[in-house]
Amino acid sequence: MLQTVDDKEVPTVERHFSPPYPEGRDGPYKNFILLRTFLTLPRMVRNPLEAFAKFQFDYPVSRYRLFKMPFALVSEPELIRHIFVENSDALEAEPLRQKILRPALRDGMLTAEGDIWRRSRRTIAPIFAPRHVNGFATAMQDATQSFLDDLAQQPGDLEVAPVLSRLAYLVLSETLFSGDINEDGEQILADVAQFLQHLSNADPLDLMGAPDWIPRPTRLRGHGATGRLRDVVRNTAKRRQARIKAGERVPEDFLTLLLQAGDSETGRLTIDEIEDNIITFIAAGHETTARALAWTLYLLAHDQKARGRAEAEVDALDMDKIPPQDWGNHLPWLTACFEESMRLYPPAAVILRRLTRDISFGEYEIPSGTNVYVSPWVLHRHSTLWENPAQFQPDRFYGENRSKIDRFAYLPFGLGPRVCIGASFAMQEAQIILALLLRRFRFDYTSDRQPWPVMKITIQPDNGMPMNMQLR
Ligand code: HEM
Repeated sequence: MLQTVDDKEVPTVERHFSPPYPEGRDGPYKNFILLRTFLTLPRMVRNPLEAFAKFQFDYPVSRYRLFKMPFALVSEPELIRHIFVENSDALEAEPLRQKILRPALRDGMLTAEGDIWRRSRRTIAPIFAPRHVNGFATAMQDATQSFLDDLAQQPGDLEVAPVLSRLAYLVLSETLFSGDINEDGEQILADVAQFLQHLSNADPLDLMGAPDWIPRPTRLRGHGATGRLRDVVRNTAKRRQARIKAGERVPEDFLTLLLQAGDSETGRLTIDEIEDNIITFIAAGHETTARALAWTLYLLAHDQKARGRAEAEVDALDMDKIPPQDWGNHLPWLTACFEESMRLYPPAAVILRRLTRDISFGEYEIPSGTNVYVSPWVLHRHSTLWENPAQFQPDRFYGENRSKIDRFAYLPFGLGPRVCIGASFAMQEAQIILALLLRRFRFDYTSDRQPWPVMKITIQPDNGMPMNMQLR
C-alpha cells in the first residue's frame, strides 16, 4: 500500500491481526529427557498444542521419544508427499488414536483399516462426488435459513461456539436424514455433544502405553449417549430401508444414497456398516465445520477491513437467482477468509500414522515402527513456509496468491488416500452458512480475554467465544 507524504510516495506497513496462541515451549529442562517427558504428559492431556517445542515450528523434521515410543513430526512438503502419498501403503493407523476412537466409531471409515476401509471408501466415495454434494446445497440453505430465523429473535450477547455446533449438526442431520427421525431432537443434540466430549478424552494411561487390563475411567463416560445415538441412527436406517423395499417414495438424501450405494463387486452396505459410517460422519463432520466457522467469525470481528469486504461480497450476491451450490464461485474473498481461518486454526491439528517399513528420502532415514505425523497446526505456522505466519492475512488465499501455496504446506483436510472424504461437502456448507450469517448479522467480539486455542479432537476456544450479534 502507498501513501503520499509531502509529495513523496512512502510504503506503509499494513497492520494485521495476530491472535494469541501457544508459541511452543522452550523450557529449562530440555536436557533432562525423563523430566521433560513427565512435564509434557500433563500438557498433552490438557492441551497437546502446548506440548510442541518452539524449534518444531522452524525445523523440517523433528524426532523424539515419548514413553519409549519413537515419533517423527514432518513439516517438509516434499517429505510429507513422499511418506503420506507415495508410500501410503507403508502407513497404518496409530494404535493410541485407534484406542480412543475405535470403541465409539467401530468400522466407520475414519477408524476402519485394510479391506473393510477399502470397501467403505470405494462404496461411499461416489456419494461425496460434486453431483451429490451440489444436490445437498438447497437442504443446507433451508436448514440454515430456518435456524437463523430463530436466532434473529434474540440479538445481543451470545456464546457462538455452541450455537454454531448446533447449526452444523442440524445442517448435517438434514442432509443425512431429511428430518426423518422419530426421536426427541433436544435429546439427540445433548447426546451428540456428550458423544463428542467422550471422544476427545485421551486417557493418561493410554498416552503412557499402559497395558489394556488396567481400567480407564475416562472410557466409561459417554457410553449411554453413544448407545442412544447409535439406536437413533439404526432405527432411522431400518425404517428407511423398509420404505425403499415397499417401493415408497423416499427423500434423495444421504441415507437413501447410502442404502442404495455399491456395485456388483462391493455389494450393498449392511445396516451395521451404515450405522458405523453415519456415526463417523457425525463425529468427523460437524464439530470440525462448526469450529472453523467460529474461528472465522472471531478473526473477522478483529479485522474490520476484511469483514467489510466479505459483507460487501455477500450483499452483492443475488441469492434468489444464483443457486446455493454456486455461491462459492461468487464469494472468493469470503472463501479466502475461511481458508485462512483454517490455516490458523486447523480443525484437525494432527494427522498421525505408524510406519510399517523404513523410509529413506534424501538425508532422512525414518525407521519402521516410528509414529510419523504431520501437524497442520505446526505446518500452517511454520517459519519456512509462511511469511508472518501468526497474522490473519486472507490475501494469501485470494486470486493468484492461492496457486502459489505449496499443495503440501496447507493440509486442513489431510492428504493421500485417506484425505477427508467430506472436504467439498464442508467447503460448500461453510460458504452457504457464512453467506447467510454475514448477510443478516454482524458479530463483534466482546470479551477482554482473547480465546486460547485448545485441542480436544478439534481446536476449540477455551472458555468459549463470547460475541455480540446484531442484525445488519
Ligand atoms: C472443515 C471441516 C472438516 C475438516 C477440517 C476435516 C478434516 C479431516 C482430516 C484432516 C481428515 C484426515 C484424517 C487423517 O488422515 O487422520 C479427515 C478425514 C475424514 N473426514 Fe473430514 N473434515 C471436515 C469435514 C468433514 C465432513 C463434513 C465429513 C462428512 C460429512 C467428513 C468426513 C470424514 C471422514 C469419513 C474421514 C475419514 C476418511 C478416511 O479415512 O478414508 N469430514 N477429515
